[in-house]
Amino acid sequence: MLAVEGLEVEYGKVRALWGVSFRVDRGETVAIIGPNGAGKSTILRTIAGVLRPAGGRIAFRDREIGGLAAHQVARLGVALVPEGREVFPAMSVVENLLLAGRLQRDRARVRETLEWVYDTFPRLAERQRQAAATLSGGEQQMLAIARALMADPHLLMLDEPATGLSPLVVDRIFEVIRALGARGATTLLVEQNVHLALEVAARGYVLERGRVILAGDAPRLLDHPLIREAYLGLPAAGPGQGGGG
Ligand SMILES: Nc1ncnc2c1ncn2[C@@H]1O[C@H](COP(=O)(O)OP(=O)(O)O)[C@@H](O)[C@H]1O
Ligand SMILES: [Mg+2]
Repeated sequence: MLAVEGLEVEYGKVRALWGVSFRVDRGETVAIIGPNGAGKSTILRTIAGVLRPAGGRIAFRDREIGGLAAHQVARLGVALVPEGREVFPAMSVVENLLLAGRLQRDRARVRETLEWVYDTFPRLAERQRQAAATLSGGEQQMLAIARALMADPHLLMLDEPATGLSPLVVDRIFEVIRALGARGATTLLVEQNVHLALEVAARGYVLERGRVILAGDAPRLLDHPLIREAYLGLPAAGPGQGGGG
């Protein structure tokens, strides 16, 4: 679905990504984890066409998309839910959703998608006519994700969906991410919350200072000494590992 190879991105003269490579297969949820400033958002913004790569390749459904404009990438079926949940505050929930559905020509399909989005997020159905600005932070995050889903994307990219939300709301959001995966959605998730990310993802990549330093299946990463120590604050060796008991 998505194959990124040797991606390099610069802000002016400052290099943010140094030869980043990873892939997301069809129907997979993949997580990119790493500390603040590692370059996670830069990766998503570059795939989405907001930033131009300085080097490397981005293949999406066997087509090179590196350097395309954001509206072109969106039309190919890539949806980004950016950090800070962009919704139109003065517009109602349903207006936000229908506007996001405009990329779909088929009106019957838009209705269908809207029904499905309301099934997924009953809170939004209850608040259809309410201005987005009056929603809670968690509801706004749900609306931001729902807007991305209205475009019926081939690839959904989520930038730190848990940030700033209460544990209960975070649980609900990750339940939805898991449910989307079970329905066959392809999702690229960027998170600082390593535990949550690796619980919903099949595979993960660890990004530090613009480089992928570790990659693997999620359960293996959760058990990796580096992840346990540096990211989860646990002893390096897990139960049943090392020392012989
Ligand atoms: N608009 C910008 N201009 C200059 N430098 C930036 C800009 N956005 C991000 N950076 C720098 O690029 C690096 C990666 O940032 P970012 O992708 O936002 O990291 P993350 O999302 O992992 O926290 C950081 O060093 C950050 O300071
Ligand atoms: Mg970020």
